Amino acid sequence: MTDTSLIDMSWDEFDEHRDPRPADNQFDAVVSRAISRRGLLGGALAFGSGAAVFGTGLFSTTTASRAAGHGAFAFEPIGIATDHQIHVPAGYRAKVLVRWGDPLWSEAQGAYSPETGVPVAMSDKVFGENTDGMELFEIDGKEVIAVNSEYVNPKINLPAASEGMPQNADEVLLLKNLQGVTVMEVADNGDGYQVVIDSPLNRRITHETEMTLAGPLAGHDLVKTKADPAGMTVKGTMNNCGSGKTLWGTYLTCEENFNGYFGATGEMPAGEGYSRYGIGGEGRYAYEKFDPRYDISNEPNEPHRHGFITEIDPADPASTPVKRTALGRIKHENAEMVQASDGRVVVYMGDDERGEYLYKYVSNGTWTEGGATEGLLDDGTLYAARFNDDQTGEWLALTPETTGMDAAEILCFTRMAASAVGATTMDRPEWVAANPLKPEAYCALTNNKNRGVKPNAGGDDTAVNGPNPRETNNYGQIVRWTPAGGNHAADAFDWDLYVMAGNPTVYDNQYAGSANINEGNMFNSPDGMAFSSDGMLWIQTDGDDDNDGEFAGMGNNQMLVGDPETGEIARFMTVPNGAEVTGLCWSADKKVAFVGVQHPGGAWPDGTGKPRSAIVAVWREDGVAIG
Ligand code: FEO
Ligand code: CA
Ligand code: CA
Repeated sequence: MTDTSLIDMSWDEFDEHRDPRPADNQFDAVVSRAISRRGLLGGALAFGSGAAVFGTGLFSTTTASRAAGHGAFAFEPIGIATDHQIHVPAGYRAKVLVRWGDPLWSEAQGAYSPETGVPVAMSDKVFGENTDGMELFEIDGKEVIAVNSEYVNPKINLPAASEGMPQNADEVLLLKNLQGVTVMEVADNGDGYQVVIDSPLNRRITHETEMTLAGPLAGHDLVKTKADPAGMTVKGTMNNCGSGKTLWGTYLTCEENFNGYFGATGEMPAGEGYSRYGIGGEGRYAYEKFDPRYDISNEPNEPHRHGFITEIDPADPASTPVKRTALGRIKHENAEMVQASDGRVVVYMGDDERGEYLYKYVSNGTWTEGGATEGLLDDGTLYAARFNDDQTGEWLALTPETTGMDAAEILCFTRMAASAVGATTMDRPEWVAANPLKPEAYCALTNNKNRGVKPNAGGDDTAVNGPNPRETNNYGQIVRWTPAGGNHAADAFDWDLYVMAGNPTVYDNQYAGSANINEGNMFNSPDGMAFSSDGMLWIQTDGDDDNDGEFAGMGNNQMLVGDPETGEIARFMTVPNGAEVTGLCWSADKKVAFVGVQHPGGAWPDGTGKPRSAIVAVWREDGVAIG
């Protein structure tokens, strides 16, 4: 029987469904022990088995100035909201750029209906659902946004289907087409930006688009299927979460909860690699019932062909996307590429599941402006991070020598390789953002209710540790690191916590948050992050927006701006109740920020009918740059 509740779960809840905590976890005892601890407020920072350590700048700011002022910020911070609107500071405007179902080509004009959504015939000609990571490119004087559509809400897209679950192959195709990636030209028509309908640069990439496998895993037995006996071509990039931009101007889309699309109609193949990634049982969207490619009992290797970073050339709509296996197979959040001071290419990547790891890839070759890029994302070394409690850390190379796995296995079962080297289990690593003004990077650790409660899916211990210092962590934190010698390719780093989210109106212990959190800027579950060119850290949340209990006073999900130097954080934007904020890029002139609003509630933004995920353009009315 179909477990229809699967489609109502968040992806985090789906992980828990696949890997439930034991009945005798003594959860309540753990919670009461954790919240009875003291220490964070006032600066006494050691608790648990690890030490929470903060940059000294955080404690040079007085409570009064944090609460009252907007210090380094060019805007007046806003209060919380609990409604179904967008709010931005005084002097700023926000306007919807594009919504799920809006046409990218003229033939899809009017395709969207508030009652029935989008017909299957038009489903790959409209903007997809649940917008996520995005980047803006300047191509021959035009501005082009590449943007992910992470997943679909079947109940909204298939209102006639039983409980929103697909009942035939056409309905599966509809869902496949409304996810993936959109590439679209945008232009400023004098009244805010619009999508350029029918632009030759517009493109949809879906779960059906053909792409190439590249890197050491390409052609390996682990990725061969009936449809692709050579193991070199794959259909689809899926659960496209965060994004990245290469130094050479291509788009990186990051395959996160790919496991949820696969199911087994018969016997499951053997192998630890399935359970570690939550693959098995019933798929979330019933794909496996109507497309044998998604049936693991029929195609045991198909799941091995997803969970990668995929590179797309937004300048060439005819180009074939390339899955870069050298960057590992995990639940990829985003891909933050920087150039190391020695010229090599570094990509920081989080694996978003409770107790999984933070990674980086370092190319063997170096890049120069305008130079060749061949091999830069295929030939290199993958590392997982170990954070020591003394604020030092090291990147542990994942090699046959260190892991006992061969090179292909390391890239296919990357989580197991990271476990083998003893990397540090993290509180759900989401986006990584690198400061453009100095060699440091930040990772949002969104939350982890299982910290100190149960091991990760691989059985690794998740007791509290330095950068993940709170048991049953419902608020999240942001860790940052400085590479040794200022070189992002270096093996060693120093780290501290930029912020620990929390609620000082509810708690007076470590769950109150770090000293740069106050009643005026509270938030939970940091997720999306990006630096603006002026070196400010923009933080987007995907948390509990009930505004109740331990989340009282935090309101709807929000976007904040953090000053890396002082630690100050100010609220810039709130989104409709039900929504998370995810995805951020700026227009070429930096005057407009494009912000993603995913899974809104109510009837936003139309005011009637279905809620529609959308990208919002935000700008200053006086025309001053904001990014
Ligand atoms: Fe798609 Fe971890 O967020
Ligand atoms: Ca996210
Ligand atoms: Ca999230």
